[in-house]
Amino acid sequence: MEPVKIADGIFSVGVTDWNIRDFHGYSTYEGTTYNAYLILDDKITLIDTVKKEFGDQLLANISAIIDPKKIDYMISNHTEMDHSSSLPRVMHKIGEDKPLYCSKMGQKNLSKHFSQAWNYQPVENLQTLSLGKRTVTFMETRMLHWPDSMFTYVNEDKLLFSSDAFGQHYAGPEKFDDQIGDDIFPHAKKYFANILMPYSPLILKLVDTVTEMGLQIDTICPDHGIIWRKDPSKIINRYVEWSKMAPKRKALVIYDTMWHSTEAMAEAIVGALIQEGVNAKPMHLRNCHRSDVITEVLDAGAIIVGSPTLNNNIFPTVADFLTYMKGLKPLNKIAAPFGSFGWSGESVKLVTKALEEMKFDVIDPGVRLQYVPDEKGISACVALGKKIAAALPEK
Ligand code: FEO
Repeated sequence: MEPVKIADGIFSVGVTDWNIRDFHGYSTYEGTTYNAYLILDDKITLIDTVKKEFGDQLLANISAIIDPKKIDYMISNHTEMDHSSSLPRVMHKIGEDKPLYCSKMGQKNLSKHFSQAWNYQPVENLQTLSLGKRTVTFMETRMLHWPDSMFTYVNEDKLLFSSDAFGQHYAGPEKFDDQIGDDIFPHAKKYFANILMPYSPLILKLVDTVTEMGLQIDTICPDHGIIWRKDPSKIINRYVEWSKMAPKRKALVIYDTMWHSTEAMAEAIVGALIQEGVNAKPMHLRNCHRSDVITEVLDAGAIIVGSPTLNNNIFPTVADFLTYMKGLKPLNKIAAPFGSFGWSGESVKLVTKALEEMKFDVIDPGVRLQYVPDEKGISACVALGKKIAAALPEK
């Protein structure tokens, strides 16, 4: 990716990772970008770096604009390695003694990652730093996405460097929202669901704080994906909507199957839900990636989970998904379990326990059938689908 001008004296100098398909368990079907930003002012400033293997490309992008040795300040908004693992290479190039601005937690975390005696300049929330013609304000944004995360706001340009927030794992020719339009929102939604969903209450609080401060934001520059310059309020409004997790008349039947019995049950439940006007679909866990399933979970009102019993336990793919979903803390769901078994049949009980631990409202003990579902068994699945439909909101 060549440097891209964002505003007078402000450039995106990050890189595109076209080939990544697994981002620590998240399926990045179209790759991603690691964005870094260069501000040319009296004090030349670099904001964030990129993944280690792209360090040379980052330095080449910077060199297309200025000699990297002329960089005066380094700002690290976030320690996670996709934004910091080329920091040792960059600091070596620009000068190990250059001031490195980060949050207090950022200093702790960077020290634990790199064991380098850099010239750390830990900042307080809302501390400012003059770059010359511009002043930046640092905003602590703990847990968005790590305890060290912060935003950097350029007061004069009304431009927010938002680290992970408002990003998307997307690689393409477009660099700005006005170039891709609304096609970017499925990527932004998937990113939100898989990375930021657990911190939804903090996002709502942050949006309130920013509104109370009267902070005007004309441009949002995240550390992944496209830059929001045409209408940043669009993505902010989506974040508010997604964070609320208001349940829709939407149900997911998430399952795996060994000999198609649990699958037949899933299809009967989905059929009944659709008949009752619910936006319902089955999601087979060996055909749907967990990160795509969780994207659908975000605004679903009902989560129905089916598992065969394997060796007295939940089927492994279902256990994997339940673990993943628990960590992401989805809210406001009704739920029910189901599954076929051979002789011991523990899975429905274990799935129920997992759903209850997630604070889902388990509105039915579910359907538990031995071997192949007969007509009576299928009728029980249809009844479960209808019960779920009746408990969902009208829209
Ligand atoms: Fe893109 Fe939390 O790292």
